[in-house]
Amino acid sequence: MKLPFSLARRFVAAETLNDTIPVVRKLNAKGLYVTLDQLGEYVSDRKVAVEATDAYVDLLRRIAEERRDSRLDANISIKLSMLGQKIDEGLCYDNLLRLLSVATEHDIFVRLDMEGSDLTHSTLGLFEKAYPYHPRHVGVVLQAYLHRTAEDVARMCELNARVRLCKGAYKEPPGVAYQQMPVIRERFIEHMQRLIEHARYPGIATHDDILIDATREFVGRNGITADRYEFQMLYGIRPVTQEQIVADGYRMRVYVPFGTQWLPYYMRRIRERKENLWFVVKSLFRK
Ligand code: FDA
Repeated sequence: MKLPFSLARRFVAAETLNDTIPVVRKLNAKGLYVTLDQLGEYVSDRKVAVEATDAYVDLLRRIAEERRDSRLDANISIKLSMLGQKIDEGLCYDNLLRLLSVATEHDIFVRLDMEGSDLTHSTLGLFEKAYPYHPRHVGVVLQAYLHRTAEDVARMCELNARVRLCKGAYKEPPGVAYQQMPVIRERFIEHMQRLIEHARYPGIATHDDILIDATREFVGRNGITADRYEFQMLYGIRPVTQEQIVADGYRMRVYVPFGTQWLPYYMRRIRERKENLWFVVKSLFRK
């Protein structure tokens, strides 16, 4: 049974790219930058991985076209598991390079989202392999909840790479990830400070006021200008705060997911916040 899209509407812009473009334009008009995410995860078939790469290439070309016709600010986020990472890393790398050459041609930045910890090592390995060929057009994500992240932050600083820092959205065992929110926040703040000082244009991706305030305090105290980093939030979460952060003089990028395969993304957002269940219940009774 296919669930109705109305359920996901709060967190997912639309099921098609045509319907998503006006959403991007509206956000841009409010001074918000955008990252587009064509939804989907793990593919287990080589042909589907190539098709997913084709779809990302089409997305890059469409952004370039829209930008030519009238100003539009959007980069993209991708999941390597959609490019065949779980089937064959070589295939995934070929798909990634094909995509990055189109991104470089059109000067559009591509972020590699970070998935479950079974893929962290592979994702960072593929990133490091592709990065020398496309240093301005590819970046990666690090998750503050993982024990390994301090070392990964150090490495990304060495490479002067572009990193999005987030807490981490997957259920991970205590052997690999911190489980307590105060500890995750503490690690996040350490990584945020290091990335802002020593890496290139990090994305500070959180809706958590404690972490937003810690970032504002850190950059204020050190005289770091607003063009050296950006805040990032998810579409549909704290939209008023998103605009307020821009009004306060900071950069804010909104991660805008779209597409028909919205269920796993939507379930992660529901798991994060119990009150989101109310949005589901209400949306069942609303047209
Ligand atoms: P936290 O969940 O502690 O929430 C703080 C406050 O924000 C809450 O009190 C509430 O007010 C509000 N809030 C947060 N989530 C909400 C929700 N779902 N609904 C309503 N209100 C909510 N993860 C990952 O593993 N890999 C990735 O690549 C990415 N990419 C990514 C990009 C961007 C732009 C963002 C913002 C986040 C990610 N994440 C991610 C997700 C991230 O790891 C994390 O799961 C969520 O951001 C939730 O953690 P917060 O730090 O936002 O705060």
